[in-house]
Amino acid sequence: MSNTFMHNIFLLSILLFQFLGIVKIDAKVPAVIVFGDSSVDAGNNNYIRTVLRSNFKPYGRDFAGGKPTGRFSNGKVPTDFISEAFGLKPTIPAYLDIKYNISDFATGVTFASAGSGYDNATSDVLSVIPLWKELEYYKEYQKKLAAYQGENAAKQTISEALHLMSLGTNDFLENYYSSPPGGRSSQYTIRQFEDFLIGIAGNFIKELYGLGARKISMGGLVPMGCLPLERTTNFMSGNECLQRYNDVALEFNDKLKNLAVKLNKELPGIRLVFSNPYYIFMSIVRRPSTFGFEVASVACCATGLFEMGYACNENNMFTCTDATKYVFWDAFHPTEKTNQIIANYVVKHFLAQFLS
Ligand SMILES: *[C@@H]1O[C@H](CO)[C@@H](O)[C@H](O)[C@H]1NC(C)=O
Ligand SMILES: *[C@@H]1O[C@H](CO)[C@@H](O)[C@H](O)[C@H]1NC(C)=O
Repeated sequence: MSNTFMHNIFLLSILLFQFLGIVKIDAKVPAVIVFGDSSVDAGNNNYIRTVLRSNFKPYGRDFAGGKPTGRFSNGKVPTDFISEAFGLKPTIPAYLDIKYNISDFATGVTFASAGSGYDNATSDVLSVIPLWKELEYYKEYQKKLAAYQGENAAKQTISEALHLMSLGTNDFLENYYSSPPGGRSSQYTIRQFEDFLIGIAGNFIKELYGLGARKISMGGLVPMGCLPLERTTNFMSGNECLQRYNDVALEFNDKLKNLAVKLNKELPGIRLVFSNPYYIFMSIVRRPSTFGFEVASVACCATGLFEMGYACNENNMFTCTDATKYVFWDAFHPTEKTNQIIANYVVKHFLAQFLS
């Protein structure tokens, strides 16, 4: 009697153990797969014909080895920190980087291209990789992964991998608000353009889902009116943040959030989260000293005065010596320290559900 009892307990613990084991495997993220723009590019643009690159000094100054990689920062980008937080490698390689192959990409890869956006017309501005092409590369990647891991293991990797999307800023700043005559701003009102982009985002997520992805994060926009480049153009109002652009970011983020609610209902088994960096970014810009920064209005690299474009390069005599005091590295991109704060915040508040 007591033997049977013990035996049952024993069986029960084995079942429980297996059950917990399975739960753990299910929740694990074996790879982080990234789509987007310069916020998460790790050097794909070095391998295409575009002027939009950052593979020269002083970019990468504080990266391991002090090397410029094509990341638009002095060090790591947010997705590098997210990968690390998930117990994966500390940096995510660019898919087109010839130094890496599928054995590296199996645990993380970025298809992102600086200057890209949801709209094809955005990537056309500087001849960078459009979002549909990032998806083509992803399909090619899946084939390589299947050859490397085996068909079934690769399918499992894809369904458990965390897919991150980070784009949209260029659609507004480089495309809509910089439209030539006949461009997007004469075709659409800003509301209509937002809806146009949301339509593309929804289709993109459905495509990812159709290809087996289940864990997906849609990154929201930062207060893009506070980027040094935009503040510089706001000299009539003392170089304050451009409220108009921040309002568009808030409005677009709301629409992304609604899209997530809708697709989570529509697509069985999907876990789609809207990761919102807006408020943490705004806190950093408004109260930089709280986060240990000294400067938020101008960038470390380039003077911050009338810098029209990506003016950061080695000939710039005014590049700051300590980037940890600056929120922004160049006129458009945060420093590594800012990227780390934002990544930590996003992991804690939006991605934590995928951690355990
Ligand atoms: C990837 O590259 C490493 C060396 O860089 C090599 O040892 C390995 O065989 C390569 N793997 C594949 C699957 O090509
Ligand atoms: C973008 O371009 C691709 C390739 O030409 C095309 O298949 C796709 O439909 C275009 N997207 C939109 C929203 O027009």
